[in-house]
Amino acid sequence: MIVDTHCHLYDEAFRPDFDDVLTRAREAGLEACVMPGIDRSCHESLVAMADALPGFAFPCIGLHPTSVSETWEEELAFVKEHFADRRWYAVGEIGLDKYWSKDFVKEQIRVLEEQIVLAAEAGLPVIIHLREATDDFFRVLEDLRGVDFRGVMHAYSGSYETYRRLLTYADFRFGIGGVVTYKNAGVALAVEKMSLDDIVTETDCPWLTPVPFRGKRNEPSYVRLVVEKIAQIKQLPYEDVAASTTRNARRLFNL
Ligand code: NI
Repeated sequence: MIVDTHCHLYDEAFRPDFDDVLTRAREAGLEACVMPGIDRSCHESLVAMADALPGFAFPCIGLHPTSVSETWEEELAFVKEHFADRRWYAVGEIGLDKYWSKDFVKEQIRVLEEQIVLAAEAGLPVIIHLREATDDFFRVLEDLRGVDFRGVMHAYSGSYETYRRLLTYADFRFGIGGVVTYKNAGVALAVEKMSLDDIVTETDCPWLTPVPFRGKRNEPSYVRLVVEKIAQIKQLPYEDVAASTTRNARRLFNL
């Protein structure tokens, strides 16, 4: 059995053939999908999906850095307002993204810090989205020294050295997805040296589609291709990688 720890199953990209997507996911051995939130606009469809697939699709709540703009205060208030609505499995996805925009970096940092503290107080893991802002993220981690939290570095694409450094700050797991299947993917070198105990698998579907489907829509069943690639890199049997990453995911998110 395998787990997709980052799955936007509620995205409208899956609406036309949703039943087929789900059938293929189950046939691939998928036993759980963790669904990160983004902002107010997807909240309702995410919650509806979680209600429709109990024990399979696990909902999270959080404000994504690319949704931090003029309306950030209302968006953050929305997260806090709905925090006690139901059982959430993580605060996410949250983080920093300077690739998308540099206009609200200060606000992105503030929103991230507040949500990490929120997660720590609730005993929930965080799902971190980080793009072209590694130095800023380490400054946030310095600021939050003393805040005891855990989480996943989603779509991890950094080096082995950055992986080691991140682990000195918090109990992180590392979400490995389709990028690891790309030709000359630097993260493959890191994966080779990383402890299997620190790795969880993900798709980030409908985005970041693995080879050989790169360029097409990503879907949860393709997490199998990620497990295969990790097994190949680490020269381990598929079943061992599937079992370890599933155990890591279940522990991290309390699935
Ligand atoms: Ni995502």
